Amino acid sequence: MNPFFRLHSGLPREAPGDRASVDWAFTTGNVARDAKILDAGCGPGADIAALLENAPAGEVLAVDLHAPFIDAVKARWLDEPRVTARVQSMDEPEGPFDLVWAAGALYFLGIEAGLRHFRPHLAPGGVVAFSELAWLVDDPAPGLVWEMRKEYPEIGGAEALQARVMAAGYDICGLRVLDDAAWEAYYTPMEARIAALRPGADADLINVLNAAGEEIALWRENRDQLGYILAVARPA
Ligand SMILES: C[S@@+](CC[C@H](N)C(=O)[O-])C[C@H]1O[C@@H](n2cnc3c(N)ncnc32)[C@H](O)[C@@H]1O
Repeated sequence: MNPFFRLHSGLPREAPGDRASVDWAFTTGNVARDAKILDAGCGPGADIAALLENAPAGEVLAVDLHAPFIDAVKARWLDEPRVTARVQSMDEPEGPFDLVWAAGALYFLGIEAGLRHFRPHLAPGGVVAFSELAWLVDDPAPGLVWEMRKEYPEIGGAEALQARVMAAGYDICGLRVLDDAAWEAYYTPMEARIAALRPGADADLINVLNAAGEEIALWRENRDQLGYILAVARPA
């Protein structure tokens, strides 16, 4: 298995997130209890239980390009007819969807391009909820800006994110900064995996583990300046 997936296989989630954020998105977007939901870039399916509980008469189509994630989702929800999981690009399902849930995943299509893509696949009143790396302050430290722009040049603050959403023809229903618990839900299991894989790791795997450790340290040192914003957006 490639070293990246040796680190990432079997982790509970692949981006910061938590139950409270899913609950907030349903309330903020006024998402119906019988919603048809696309979990776009579902990863290992960390949010599916919360999506189903918020939409007790709804259904979830979970798609991801990485087949082992979809295998895990299928195994977990084998007896749940309200969940369908497919190896598929998130821009392939037709809709209409009441909620497109793209936790840490919309940026793979590009924020504006992704929002524009989903628009004709939304039911009337439907919303897109997506989380995105963002500055939490107006004046992040220059060294941090330089570091982050190498990794993700599109990073901006809440206002810039709002402008991008509006440029794609959507209104913002609400923005929420994910709290530390949402990050720990992602990074704490990853730290345990890094520690477990280090003994006997070859050079390629060590590089992957070191890079992941540095990413975690960067967030821990700068979490007052750098975070994830969850946006709920509806076509204007
Ligand atoms: C950062 S992870 C987030 C996963 C999950 N939403 C979570 O919060 O745990 C992004 C996921 O998007 C998937 N992905 C990337 N491009 C995709 C595409 N075009 N269609 C579907 N999934 C995609 C990746 O395989 C990965 O599982």
